[in-house]
Amino acid sequence: SSSPRRYTHEEYKETADWLLAHTEQRPKVAIICGSGLGSLADLLEDKTVFPYKDIPRFPTSTVPGHAGQLVFGKLQGRECVCMQGRFHFYEGYDIQTVTFPVRVFFLLGVETLIVTNAAGGLNDAYNEGDIMLIKDHINLPGFAGQNPLCGQNDERFGVRFPCMSDAYDRELRALARQTAEEQGCGGFLQEGVYCMVAGPSYETIAECRLLRTLGADTVGMSTVPEVLVARHCGLRVLGLSLITNMTVTDYDSNQKANHEEVLQTTRNRTQDLERFVSNLIAKI
Ligand code: 6GU
Repeated sequence: SSSPRRYTHEEYKETADWLLAHTEQRPKVAIICGSGLGSLADLLEDKTVFPYKDIPRFPTSTVPGHAGQLVFGKLQGRECVCMQGRFHFYEGYDIQTVTFPVRVFFLLGVETLIVTNAAGGLNDAYNEGDIMLIKDHINLPGFAGQNPLCGQNDERFGVRFPCMSDAYDRELRALARQTAEEQGCGGFLQEGVYCMVAGPSYETIAECRLLRTLGADTVGMSTVPEVLVARHCGLRVLGLSLITNMTVTDYDSNQKANHEEVLQTTRNRTQDLERFVSNLIAKI
């Protein structure tokens, strides 16, 4: 649209100040949990839980599998704040609303953002159930004018033209690889390029072939807007894709992408991923 809803610095700050007044925790790490991956938040100790609807100006979540609350607490003794349920563009939120929480995290004093998502595998070497460290992304909606940083720039958050060649922190990725090895799940850890599409329909065969040709290893409907806003305001980012299904690239295949399969693979891998993220947080 030509005049997207924009939040002012004061609006982000009011939400952040409300949270700071309602918890004594001062997390340095924020985690955005993908579809079906929100049970990570249940592992936190000394929790303070805020349903999104109770937080001034916070959007509310509509997809099954997304609880819709902000959880403060300790993971391996480290304070963190966890979004149990994220906002997707395909739900009808504009891109500013999708990324609203990230600037709130920045104003809370958060320095590192961990994002997880469920994604379709495009790379033939990948298997359902693999975890992919995101090393780079392709912002397909951005190519079509949907970038959360469009519009007047507020220098209090960051520069007009932020760099994205270092979006996915190299040190954090090295730490993640080391953690996976120690945990014995190095065998299903991949590292590659995540491509965002708007959704909600899954890709056609021709679209999957196109994305592969473009250099994408996974495809999903989230994460990139939050990463853009996080990097704009200087947060370090680690991104993880759980490969919930391999995409269909063959016209003779009888496979069909479906949400049930996505949720089933997620359930099978949730514990590994939770253990992975908590072991990793202990090292950050
Ligand atoms: Cl196959 N495509 C997209 N766009 N998102 C997904 C997916 C596929 N599998 C899980 N999430």
